[in-house]
Amino acid sequence: MQKSELKTPYFMIDEAKLIANLEIAKRLKELSGVKLVLALKCFSTWGVFDIIKPYLDGTTSSGPNEVKLGYETFGGETHAYSVGYSEDDVREVADICDKMIFNSQSQLAAHRHLVEGKASVGLRLNPGVSYAGQDLANPARRFSRLGVQADQLDPAVFETIDGVMFHMNCENKSADAFIGLLDAISDKFGTYLDQLQWVSLGGGVFFTWPGYELEKLAVALKAFSEKHGVQLYLEPGEAIITKTTDLVVTVVDIVENGMKTAIVDSATEAHRLDTLIYNEPASIAEACEQGEHTYVIGSCSCLAGDQFCVTSFEQPLEIGQRLHIMDSAGYTMVKLNWFNGLKMPSIYCRRQSGDIEKLNEFGYDDFKRSLSQWSVS
Ligand SMILES: Cc1ncc(COP(=O)(O)O)c(C=O)c1O
Repeated sequence: MQKSELKTPYFMIDEAKLIANLEIAKRLKELSGVKLVLALKCFSTWGVFDIIKPYLDGTTSSGPNEVKLGYETFGGETHAYSVGYSEDDVREVADICDKMIFNSQSQLAAHRHLVEGKASVGLRLNPGVSYAGQDLANPARRFSRLGVQADQLDPAVFETIDGVMFHMNCENKSADAFIGLLDAISDKFGTYLDQLQWVSLGGGVFFTWPGYELEKLAVALKAFSEKHGVQLYLEPGEAIITKTTDLVVTVVDIVENGMKTAIVDSATEAHRLDTLIYNEPASIAEACEQGEHTYVIGSCSCLAGDQFCVTSFEQPLEIGQRLHIMDSAGYTMVKLNWFNGLKMPSIYCRRQSGDIEKLNEFGYDDFKRSLSQWSVS
């Protein structure tokens, strides 16, 4: 399959770039003894799990379907976590997960009996400290519902659980900042942690970022795990998949109203939702900062403010031209939706050999089925 034959919009996952990230993950494991479970909330495109599996220890999840997917398609250790489990949810996954992590002491009390003897039981704690650029993504934000606050902990709970999970980072590129949080956790919860078998430190540690001080992180993780006598886990999502995938789109029109807008055959609201939610402009591979020709890269949805970015090019854009919206894997394919009945991007993987393999394509039937399967009689 040639790239030029592929119909846009589509995602292209690059195997070589994915393996480069995974090699860093492997080194972190070797240096620190940490186990790594892929956060399926970030990336669940199971068609490439055969590439990822040899490098990681398993998966972690945020809802029952992710638990099932991790168990079925990835294997290894299956961690099950949810902010709020119903009894049905717990029953559905108790037999297939290795660790079940509850978000509150009340959920633990209500459901532990369904898991005991089947999976290792854990509780999410909220350390009250965090590293996050935006309040929306800050687990330690005011009135946070994520995990048990230190002053609400019943110390007796630690006699009834095997491990705890903390998640307090979002795209943290600084080993020093992470170590600061680790020290705070050790000070605040250390005596409790000493009683446990495992501690998960969640995701958001951007250890694949260029220049990240990997050895420093590894030393700190190893010291923490030895100090408290626990097996440590991290739950990376974005760090594994970062910079591996382009969303490829075509310019379908160019309009002008004080500024030129190139309208492409995709939309942030449907295909790259975090651009909109976090107001973080996308980057275009063909753009050039110093270029003389500036455009809004506009979506083809009906939402007035739906745009990918404002950026410049050396040459004027042309209708029919393709653009590569970079770094489009994490928290994108898991959030695709059918808003406006737009064409859903296909998903491909460029293998290291150069071959292109199709992982998914969607059509009108998928759109229709997502809306109703039966009509009223
Ligand atoms: C509990 C938990 N673990 C892991 C992750 C993955 O984070 P990231 O993709 O930033 O590594 C998240 C993200 O929200 C999370 O909430």
